[in-house]
Amino acid sequence: MGLDDRDALRMMRDAVDPALGSDELIRSFYTRWFATDISARDLFPPDMDAQRAAFAHAMTWVFNELIAQRAEEPVAFLAQLGRDHRKYGVTQSHYDTMQDALLTTLRSHLRESWDDKLAEATHDVVALVIGVMRGAADAETGPPYCDGTVIEHIRATRDVSVVRLQLDRPLYYHPGQYVTVHVPQWPRRWRYLSPAIPADRGGGIEFHIRSVTGGMVSTAIVGETKPGDRWRLSNPHGALHIDRDGGDVLMVAGSTGLAPLRTLIMDLTRFGVNPRVHLFFGARFPCELYDLRTLWQVASQNPWLSVTPVSEFNTDPPWAGEYPDVQPPRGLHVRQTGRLADVVTRYGNWGDRQILICGGPEMVETTKAALIAKGAPAERIQHDPLTT
Ligand SMILES: Cc1cc2nc3c(=O)[nH]c(=O)nc-3n(C[C@H](O)[C@H](O)[C@H](O)COP(=O)(O)OP(=O)(O)OC[C@H]3O[C@@H](n4cnc5c(N)ncnc54)[C@H](O)[C@@H]3O)c2cc1C
Ligand code: HEM
Repeated sequence: MGLDDRDALRMMRDAVDPALGSDELIRSFYTRWFATDISARDLFPPDMDAQRAAFAHAMTWVFNELIAQRAEEPVAFLAQLGRDHRKYGVTQSHYDTMQDALLTTLRSHLRESWDDKLAEATHDVVALVIGVMRGAADAETGPPYCDGTVIEHIRATRDVSVVRLQLDRPLYYHPGQYVTVHVPQWPRRWRYLSPAIPADRGGGIEFHIRSVTGGMVSTAIVGETKPGDRWRLSNPHGALHIDRDGGDVLMVAGSTGLAPLRTLIMDLTRFGVNPRVHLFFGARFPCELYDLRTLWQVASQNPWLSVTPVSEFNTDPPWAGEYPDVQPPRGLHVRQTGRLADVVTRYGNWGDRQILICGGPEMVETTKAALIAKGAPAERIQHDPLTT
């Protein structure tokens, strides 16, 4: 039976499902693993809350797929995870110790129902998950990450930095994709960032980072990044894209959510004829619309692009004077005041557009919900995963 034994799979799924209170099991798994392999502990950041949640969610999803007798997607997901995990410095021996710890923890947790059938299914699932990850990692010959040196750090506003790096080798990504980044100020804490320019053969790359209140890595990047810092970047992910034959485009960018949309726009400038693109670029204060000059330049050369600046407040705070003036020459649409979701939907439902929304999770969810409520088809709306 093994992987076909749905009752056993359900029992294991229920044990790891965070919605059913799997915290104790997941904690005891990591404690057991780290007790037997201290080198595995060193790969993780000190606080493990987010990791326990990510692991429990991933395992629950895999079990659900196996219960539904779907193997293709989980295998593809695990293979990708295994290839990606190389960037953390995961070795084959970590997989051995993890396999033992996971099996022992599941057996101990499910001891009251433990029998030969459950033992077989548990063994098979753990062997599948670990086997696919380690096999894919082992088979991958490309480099696990790409290092680069910060060459410029511009404080565009109080909360937003533009950071430019020279990578040791060019990194190829599709416009709109993101990478995970590791900065020297916070070892072992990887964060997602979206390149703000298309892939460059010369190895140049640019990121726009907004420091979020209470945020560990973003505040360190904005407050402390200096030329010479060495950053580590993962391989790219994500599927935000524009179908050039798919009709006109609506883009909604909140603050540094502009980065991937700007990359897509820059990529479109390679072509003479494009779908019409209307970009709403929003921030709290007018002075935080940090990239309007670049957008003005691109729009002035490319008639298919229109840009509407949007700010929640109509006037600037006192600290605005300490940062560059973001006002572009005339040419863009008049700045609108209000929340992005409200302003964008004032113009209609955009139902005939390809819609791309980028920014903080709350803005993305609110804007998406507002557009759908107005009648925009959900399947035409794209955004990145909302993990923080
Ligand atoms: C696919 C993807 C691409 C991303 N690209 C970019 C990018 O190009 N530029 C950029 O600046 N950020 C980007 N982010 C967000 C970034 O990865 C971090 O989540 C963000 O910088 C906060 O990290 P932190 O360590 O400072 O905060 P943490 O210490 O991880 O979190 C602190 C608090 O801030 C909240 N928080 C986290 N992220 C946000 C957010 N975006 N808005 C509001 N509150 C938040 C958390 O819920 C938490 O309460 C992207 C996120 C994703 C998922
Ligand atoms: C040898 C085995 C493994 C090691 C050493 C390992 C290590 C790590 C590390 C260091 C992180 C980053 C933590 C952070 O940045 O906060 C991570 C993330 C993650 N791991 Fe693993 N892991 C292993 C196996 C697995 C397995 C079997 C799964 C489940 C299917 C898994 C699922 C995840 C997920 C979902 C994340 C978050 C996404 C990501 O950052 O890639 N890992 N792991």
